[in-house]
Amino acid sequence: MKSLLLSEYNHLEIADMPQPAVGPEEVLVRVEACGICGSDVHGYDGSSGRRIPPIVMGHEAAGTVAAVGSAVRGYAEGDRVTFDSTVYCGNCAYCARGDVNLCDNRQVIGVSCGDYRRHGAFAEFVVVPQRILYHLPANISFAEAAMLEAVSVALHGVRVSEPKGGETALVIGAGMIGLLTLQAARAAGCSRIFISDVDATRLSLASEVGADKVLHCSGDELLARVHELTNGRGVDLAYEAVGRNETVSSSIDCTRKGGTVTLIGNIQPEVTLPLQKVVTRQIRLQGSCASSGEYPQAIELIRSGAIQVRPLITAVAPLEEGARWFERLYAHEPNLMKIVLAPQPELVR
Ligand SMILES: NC(=O)c1ccc[n+]([C@@H]2O[C@H](COP(=O)([O-])OP(=O)(O)OC[C@H]3O[C@@H](n4cnc5c(N)ncnc54)[C@H](O)[C@@H]3O)[C@@H](O)[C@H]2O)c1
Ligand SMILES: [Zn+2]
Ligand SMILES: [Zn+2]
Repeated sequence: MKSLLLSEYNHLEIADMPQPAVGPEEVLVRVEACGICGSDVHGYDGSSGRRIPPIVMGHEAAGTVAAVGSAVRGYAEGDRVTFDSTVYCGNCAYCARGDVNLCDNRQVIGVSCGDYRRHGAFAEFVVVPQRILYHLPANISFAEAAMLEAVSVALHGVRVSEPKGGETALVIGAGMIGLLTLQAARAAGCSRIFISDVDATRLSLASEVGADKVLHCSGDELLARVHELTNGRGVDLAYEAVGRNETVSSSIDCTRKGGTVTLIGNIQPEVTLPLQKVVTRQIRLQGSCASSGEYPQAIELIRSGAIQVRPLITAVAPLEEGARWFERLYAHEPNLMKIVLAPQPELVR
């Protein structure tokens, strides 16, 4: 089968690889669309240590069932499907609690990190366990389905912040995750949602997907604007979707006493904690990792139009053009959001 193989760091090539064998509880999926994730771009040059060559990356995918293992029930050849990027074990204490994102034996599709190598979906076919598979409604395109992982991440971030409805919220960072977190916060009942970024082009997309106020500023200026908008109190809920020292600090500053800061961004491994602000203003700091069970909700919110993903898809391109798109993403070319690769591009739209 045709695959886009990371044969060495910074080098992707179209390779002919054997079609994977299907175990009893597994499903062979003919891939129709697979998004390039930021983590793939970070893995590409070796800096993250999570894409050790040779590896076929790609975990944000959708397609049709091509074959099912002997123990698989509820799926048949030709079904339109998508799947969770996380392969959880289903047996550990975290899985038993439903916290599958924290599974002790967690693997991610399209990752090789020393402990395991699991080829992903930048290929004509991929094999996944049935337990991570979901049916895809007819009115969600394969390309839109490639956005489900990011939507699930956003929904999880909002869920762990425990909104009750009617809150004011600030999202810092209007990248892929921030723009979806904004929409997830809306779907969860937040009443006024502001979003900030230092890049104005990202903020124009934020207006398109429903921000109440876009704030093209950072640091002290951001704090002043948020205070103007909240009668000097700060927001009830802040979502940090950048992952840098200054933005983590801003998220704490902009939150009201007793409010919650949800930390989703994680570019920098360490940041400075303004301890006294967090303690004396009794702010809850809540981390959020991947998702656990949000896929069905993500599918429903895209299906109903409550979450819009189309404006965030920059291009749907043939798998053969994948290497070039990786180079462009790696070079931080402006105005690129999600790039979706399609082994059979004529079928995707
Ligand atoms: N927790 C998780 O499960 C999870 C999952 C996916 C991504 N992430 C992390 O979320 C973060 C965002 O991911 P993404 O895919 O949206 O990235 P992205 O690159 O699309 O977006 C980041 C945005 O932050 C903006 N930004 C940079 N510096 C800023 C500053 N000082 N103030 C305001 N905005 C600033 C950029 O202009 C950009 O729009 C990353 O740190 C990523 O690693 C976490
Ligand atoms: Zn991803
Ligand atoms: Zn587990």
